[in-house]
Amino acid sequence: MTKLFLLAALPLLLFNGCSQSTHQENITDEPLSLKAAFRDNFHIGTALNKSQINEAIPEAATLIQKEFNSITAENMMKWMHIQPATDTFNFELSDKFVELGEKNDMFIIGHTLVWHSQLAPWANEIKDREEMIGHLQNHISTIVGRYKGRVNGWDVLNEALNEDGSLRNSIFLQLFGEEYIKAAFELAAEADPEAELYYNDYNLCNPAKREGAIELVKKLQASGTRIDGVGIQAHWNLNHPSLEEIEKSILDYAALGVKVMFTEMDVTVIPNPWDLQGADVDQNLEGSEFMNPYTEGLPDSVQTQLAKRYEDIFKLFLKHENKITRVTFWGVNDGQSWKNNWPIKGRTSYPLLFDREYKPKMAYHSVMDLKEEKIH
Ligand code: XIL
Repeated sequence: MTKLFLLAALPLLLFNGCSQSTHQENITDEPLSLKAAFRDNFHIGTALNKSQINEAIPEAATLIQKEFNSITAENMMKWMHIQPATDTFNFELSDKFVELGEKNDMFIIGHTLVWHSQLAPWANEIKDREEMIGHLQNHISTIVGRYKGRVNGWDVLNEALNEDGSLRNSIFLQLFGEEYIKAAFELAAEADPEAELYYNDYNLCNPAKREGAIELVKKLQASGTRIDGVGIQAHWNLNHPSLEEIEKSILDYAALGVKVMFTEMDVTVIPNPWDLQGADVDQNLEGSEFMNPYTEGLPDSVQTQLAKRYEDIFKLFLKHENKITRVTFWGVNDGQSWKNNWPIKGRTSYPLLFDREYKPKMAYHSVMDLKEEKIH
């Protein structure tokens, strides 16, 4: 494949009327994919649910193998699922998840060791400091130890910050004190010295919360505790966060000497209840036409806006590709995204690059078209 041929094919590619198979015929016999297009820049990941780990839907299984080179456990490694009772660990699904990643030579992310949400009910009943320290030790050492040398990176700590950058008043903070953060990272490092260790949270591009995250990383570093990366969840919408804040965040976190990753990417085009001026978030918004406007499909005009938003974001990611190690989508296709049921149940959401039929959307092509060379 000569560069000249690629250049000759480029105008055709930029003419966005052409389908993916037209792209293929013009560039290479190899199938095009996100992971191939971005192979020299960063990993392209997706979160997997139970059905996807069991390869229950052939279209999903094929797409996952073709497009992604990193996987994150969407739910099955969370405390309530992996340690449902004090003395019971349930590794059935997480073993399968890790095997699937190994079979496909993927960068495997464990999500998540310490999080106030989706915690096992029994763990929420822990009463004193010693008990909490003991359970945290057992939880982290057992899980990370089991997958030593197999899981490549761990979201050690998830969502430990409030919006103003202060520490969330979780059960871990209440019982253990601020040292629980250092303890969590040290226990994970001890159980697998080779695995990368991350802090992961949403709204990490907002200035106040960003400052809090920077402080958290600096404190760990100052105490000699290893932290390898910051995961910015990237549950975004068409306008927020601004490209300026995203860029500033990439630069600020990278300046700490840690890897930057976008870990739970989805871009919502339907309204968020808390964006409504004066709306009562507690009112029953289920079934509201205003909150669920595109039940019959996404209009072209919105499809175009979503494609432009993804294009702008990925352009920025490429500009800073030496600081970004992974971009992970929170799900495989629109039909199974958690956004159909959160923050309001039963809506029709369109946040990902693949549609309900597992076909690439306009947003997929706008991201792919940023790369001149899209071959394996
Ligand atoms: C979500 C899952 O996608 C849903 O299936 C589940 O019901 C709730 O959790 N931040 C995180 C993720 O770190 O673990 C969450 O995943 C989304 C928000």
